[in-house]
Amino acid sequence: MDLREEIKRALGADTAAVLSAPKRKDQAFRIKVRAVQMRGQELFQASIYQGTQVFHQNCDADCMAGLLQQWITEDFGQLQLEGCGYSVHVLSSRKGKLTVKSRRKEKPEGKTAPAAHNRQKQYILPEGTPVDFLVDLKVMTPQGKVTSARYDKYRQINRFLEFIRDVLPDLPSGREITVVDFGCGKSYLTFAVYYYLNRLLGLDVRMIGLDLKADVIRECSRLAEKYGYEKLTFCVGDIASYQGASAVDMVMTLHACDTATDHALEKAVRWGGAGDPVRALLPA
Ligand SMILES: C[S@@+](CC[C@H](N)C(=O)[O-])C[C@H]1O[C@@H](n2cnc3c(N)ncnc32)[C@H](O)[C@@H]1O
Repeated sequence: MDLREEIKRALGADTAAVLSAPKRKDQAFRIKVRAVQMRGQELFQASIYQGTQVFHQNCDADCMAGLLQQWITEDFGQLQLEGCGYSVHVLSSRKGKLTVKSRRKEKPEGKTAPAAHNRQKQYILPEGTPVDFLVDLKVMTPQGKVTSARYDKYRQINRFLEFIRDVLPDLPSGREITVVDFGCGKSYLTFAVYYYLNRLLGLDVRMIGLDLKADVIRECSRLAEKYGYEKLTFCVGDIASYQGASAVDMVMTLHACDTATDHALEKAVRWGGAGDPVRALLPA
């Protein structure tokens, strides 16, 4: 089956596609595709992120399959496409040589196929694809099935990744992105964000988790090494006196206690004042 047909097979009501790793600086840095209903017709909408603007292009499945094939061949280094029970991952070299990995996703056991009016939510970390840290947390089985006892955790992690997805257009393109997680604790979300940005979207991301607790940081460092997350590092320290990075693109500081959030906000503002501003700040 040729690539266009493989792409078309995955285009349906639940489709989510992202083109990332642009090949040139003067072009869109990301394109996302999803299904939309327009005047009773099922179409596909491409949101094209260029500079600070977003353009939209709508067309039917055949046309969108052609566009996606053209974009991944000529303009982008990576395409991640999920839909209709298929997962298609394409890498494209600068010269347009394509490496395609396509597979049929397993249906979650004991669940019937969702009716069109009652579709299952499409999570960013899809059920059926085992993710190493979620398996260690017993959120997933080694086969990728979400365990019922930890379904809430699975939903919470995916919900947080949706916030990250929303700020993606604000992040710089064409260079390494630096993310700091202040008060990372056991780092469930730190691992999730790194996995999403680096492994799923293919972004060049360097991430630092900082916390006061040496034993927790030791364990997080061990896990990052175990998963082969080369650019995810952890260090022990106090947010107020942290000097480990001079320019940062995104700051997370979630459920940090006492005055920790205040210190994190102050750092983010200071980094902004030093030159390239912090593009995203996620306190909670
Ligand atoms: C409630 S936990 C949240 C962990 C993680 N961010 C999450 O949302 O799952 C708060 C963490 O912030 C850390 N923390 C509090 N004040 C800090 C400070 N001034 N510098 C570094 N870490 C701090 C604590 O050690 C603790 O691990």
